[in-house]
Amino acid sequence: MRVGTGVRTTHRHFGGQNVYRVAYLYRLSVLLLLSLLTGSTSAMQAPLSHSTARSWRAELTQSWDVLGPFPIHAREQHFLSPSFPINVAEPINFTSTWPSAYADNGRVGWTKTQASPQGDLSISFRNIRWTDLRATEGWAALQHHAVLHTNLTIYPPPGANGASPAPRLLVQLIQGSYITIVPASVGSVSSSPPEWHAGNIYEMERTLPRAIELPTPPSSTGPTTYHVFVSGDYEIRLFGDPKRNAPTQSIKLTIDVEEPSDSAVLEPTQDVLCDFLDGFAFGDALGLGVRSRGGWWTVSDAVLASKSDGFDVELLRNTTIAPSQTRIVPLHIVQTAPFRKSTLTIKLTLSSETQTKPLTLSASLPVKHLPAWSTNNLSAIMGSYFYAQEMPTLFVAFPPLLDNIKNQNSQPPILCLHGAGVDIVSSSMMIDSLAPQQHSWLVTPSGRTPWGLDWHGPSAKEAWNSVDALVTIVAANPAWHARQLTAGTPVVLMGHSNGGQGAWYLASRFPDRVRGVIPAAAYVKSQAYVSLSMSRSGHFIDPAARAILESSLTPDDNDLFLSNLVDTPVLAIHGGNDDNVPVWHSREYLSVLQTWNPDANVTFREDARQPHWYPSVLKNAQVQAVLDNILQASTQRHPRSKIFTLTVAVPSESGSLHGWKIERLSVPGRLGRLTVHTLADNQLRIVTSNVDRFSVLGDAWEGFASLQVDNSALEISPELLNSDVVTFESDGRRAWKISAQNLKAPSQVSARIQSFLSTTAPFRLIVLDNTSSRDTSLALRIAHDLNVYHRLDAEIILGYEAFQDQLASGITGNILIIGDAASPALAKLLENPQTSFRAENNRLAIRDATFDEAGLGILFLHPHPQNADAQMLFLLSTDASGLERAGRLFPIRTGVTVPDWVITSSRADQVGAAGVVGAGVWGTGWGWNEAMSWLY
Ligand SMILES: *[C@@H]1O[C@H](CO)[C@@H](O)[C@H](O)[C@H]1NC(C)=O
Ligand SMILES: *[C@@H]1O[C@H](CO)[C@@H](O)[C@H](O)[C@H]1NC(C)=O
Ligand SMILES: *[C@@H]1O[C@H](CO)[C@@H](O)[C@H](O)[C@H]1NC(C)=O
Ligand SMILES: *[C@@H]1O[C@H](CO)[C@@H](O)[C@H](O)[C@H]1NC(C)=O
Ligand SMILES: *[C@@H]1O[C@H](CO)[C@@H](O)[C@H](O)[C@H]1NC(C)=O
Ligand SMILES: *[C@@H]1O[C@H](CO)[C@@H](O)[C@H](O)[C@H]1NC(C)=O
Repeated sequence: MRVGTGVRTTHRHFGGQNVYRVAYLYRLSVLLLLSLLTGSTSAMQAPLSHSTARSWRAELTQSWDVLGPFPIHAREQHFLSPSFPINVAEPINFTSTWPSAYADNGRVGWTKTQASPQGDLSISFRNIRWTDLRATEGWAALQHHAVLHTNLTIYPPPGANGASPAPRLLVQLIQGSYITIVPASVGSVSSSPPEWHAGNIYEMERTLPRAIELPTPPSSTGPTTYHVFVSGDYEIRLFGDPKRNAPTQSIKLTIDVEEPSDSAVLEPTQDVLCDFLDGFAFGDALGLGVRSRGGWWTVSDAVLASKSDGFDVELLRNTTIAPSQTRIVPLHIVQTAPFRKSTLTIKLTLSSETQTKPLTLSASLPVKHLPAWSTNNLSAIMGSYFYAQEMPTLFVAFPPLLDNIKNQNSQPPILCLHGAGVDIVSSSMMIDSLAPQQHSWLVTPSGRTPWGLDWHGPSAKEAWNSVDALVTIVAANPAWHARQLTAGTPVVLMGHSNGGQGAWYLASRFPDRVRGVIPAAAYVKSQAYVSLSMSRSGHFIDPAARAILESSLTPDDNDLFLSNLVDTPVLAIHGGNDDNVPVWHSREYLSVLQTWNPDANVTFREDARQPHWYPSVLKNAQVQAVLDNILQASTQRHPRSKIFTLTVAVPSESGSLHGWKIERLSVPGRLGRLTVHTLADNQLRIVTSNVDRFSVLGDAWEGFASLQVDNSALEISPELLNSDVVTFESDGRRAWKISAQNLKAPSQVSARIQSFLSTTAPFRLIVLDNTSSRDTSLALRIAHDLNVYHRLDAEIILGYEAFQDQLASGITGNILIIGDAASPALAKLLENPQTSFRAENNRLAIRDATFDEAGLGILFLHPHPQNADAQMLFLLSTDASGLERAGRLFPIRTGVTVPDWVITSSRADQVGAAGVVGAGVWGTGWGWNEAMSWLY
């Protein structure tokens, strides 16, 4: 199969242009990434050759070898070797068999399948008695892992006499977990462990192919063959319920080639631009996708191609792009007069240390103009703002039907969260499924991407930020003031499917900012959606270690936080015949909520015989009636029950309930609870569990005469009554002291590795050893994944010195450190240990354990050197295979169980999380946390 030629690609287009023309020939022997990074050859911009005869060609064999199925639970492939049970660094025996509990007689071997000429693969195992397995184990039994293998052949340009630079691969793997390319002469030449690259498992829109360097240079005189291995993992969440059929993985792989060259290109599919309303941009953020085809490029200027009175763009920040990296360059829109052209053309200036002449790229963006608002002519509008200071981000909103001039009090907006796979940028499905409101805005955030982080972490932050951005945008233009909102406005939450789950999540974590919640077709938590019972690691792991790993799921477990919703109006909706999220999930939400308070203001609407999605799910008379009630009552806080309990897992990711807020836990990793009893005679009694510090807003306890917290009777002095915030600090076992100060000591920002994604500014990915091509490759892989999965921006920095230079000018965002556990630079960074990890005689140590065994991958969160609201993540290893293991635990997807720190070993390749040799959650102030730690 020809998967890629010089001028034609067969990979799928994601609504964008085909920009991968690979006929530039102008640089010699840039075989390794390293030489790319340091290359000093001055390149000449050669004209585009239209002769395919001059370019490299990649050919994937259509026939595939398939090994499987093996039972695993969702996301277990991140701990296991993606090629489990085989080792691809050794010659493969295609006649051997391996144990598998799914197969008759308990063993499976290699079989063959055929891909379509377009690269579509359909993987199913029809000789497995799936019906019997699912009869007892349900969906958990359908989840499985398989290893897929084929050959890739690289042909040099015909007639080339060894002068053509080696190409890199541009790979699109859709719905596969991981891919690696290894030399065909396995076992003889390469002893280097394979580099695994994550696929686009969610088939996310507008995803660029991934650049992969060939593991060995191809021959420039004849064809060279490589092995391709893919980890194929069936998940109900990806492929759905197969009903009576065998579960079938639909994977697509296409591989193209590109010759590296010292240049940069625009990537228009990555551009970000808001709509214009009566000539005015609905937001101030604009983004332009730029990819380096080779060399380090810095975008240092941006100007309009033709001047426009009262309209301009400004580069927000000089943006440095690593070889093969794509970044979205942030531009600030400055506008004082209408702009009515149909395209916006912007010239970017890029410079490179290896090029004397700057490069100019000219980007043309189509502008969508909407007419001025009038009562009968309103439409959905796309707005933009900078997420995390510099990342241009879109949301879609629909204005209130009526002006608010007469009715001064605008009503809270309705924040509606989409389901998994729904792209608000290319489809209006979400906003169209809501009824416009008389006095309320409808806001549908992107969630970062169609999957994002299931509306937790950065996706949750983005949901709030989209509302705040809308407030700012509307306030900025007097013509829009009739539809103004109040800063910090509370919201009504709605959502469907994953977004229904997200609505429960946001409402129960930020109850004081939510006036009501209408979640539809929501699941409770991932482990309840498909159970982890067929886990491979579960057969090997110490349950005590498993408990610590799984504590990283606690912040996601919506059922545990329903105590926070006893006073919030809820209308839960679910189709009675939902075959995607079973209806029992919503019934269970109600059951749990009513256990906390039988009088909770919660209504359940089960739409008999309806499936997962139906057009009236969020648009019907009952929804409108409930919305009307909530919106009418929205100026006041909810009435407060006589007893209520605030439950918190991560204080830094949680808001207050009736003004009460848990600021710090005694044992991070365990749940914290605060129960407030209102007694007769204006007495308040508070009972805490695992709380070290909490606060209350002054007005929340107005009218109370006395206060008992656990064993402490506290006096409410006039000073306390008059202060805005009162803080309670633990003072011995179940004893408390009270303070009128708002102790703004930062709460712990960590809790699990995933919290690293919640950055306040673009990430810095630091490669400590600037000569390590594998470490640099991992940084590029992570930068690519951050963009694909979360539209989060990252800058790559090579070397300890370069990192120190950047620190000198200030870094606010989260910092990832990639390096060798024995590196002297690491020892310097850990000179004054701030966690329990220290560097000792070129070895990493924690407590009385030191780590120098081959194959270890080590991840730990660490305080940020300059910003108390940010953090660092160290991603270290004792060798290349350990680095690969650590890299797969970087928190790109939900449901991978990694707490604040983890050390994984080569045993994980076969036994998954049971190969972990240590893991834990940091204590208060980043200290050792005995209760939540496990060491081998
Ligand atoms: C491959 O596996 C088969 C079956 O286990 C065995 O008989 C054969 O010797 C193996 N071949 C090699 C080269 O190891
Ligand atoms: C891959 O190439 C080898 C060597 O030419 C061949 O024996 C094997 O059958 C090929 N595999 C597939 C899946 O085509
Ligand atoms: C970007 O770099 C240019 C040239 O190095 C410099 O003049 C300019 O001030 C920088 N701009 C920003 C926004 O940092
Ligand atoms: C209403 O809006 C549409 C485009 O959204 C526009 O074509 C039309 O002219 C507008 N009508 C009025 C009366 O403004
Ligand atoms: C539930 O909340 C709604 C909206 O605030 C309110 O109108 C209604 O009276 C409440 N019902 C009960 C039983 O408290
Ligand atoms: C790596 O860092 C050292 C020390 O700053 C520097 O001298 C060297 O040029 C750098 N090498 C590369 C490949 O960037």
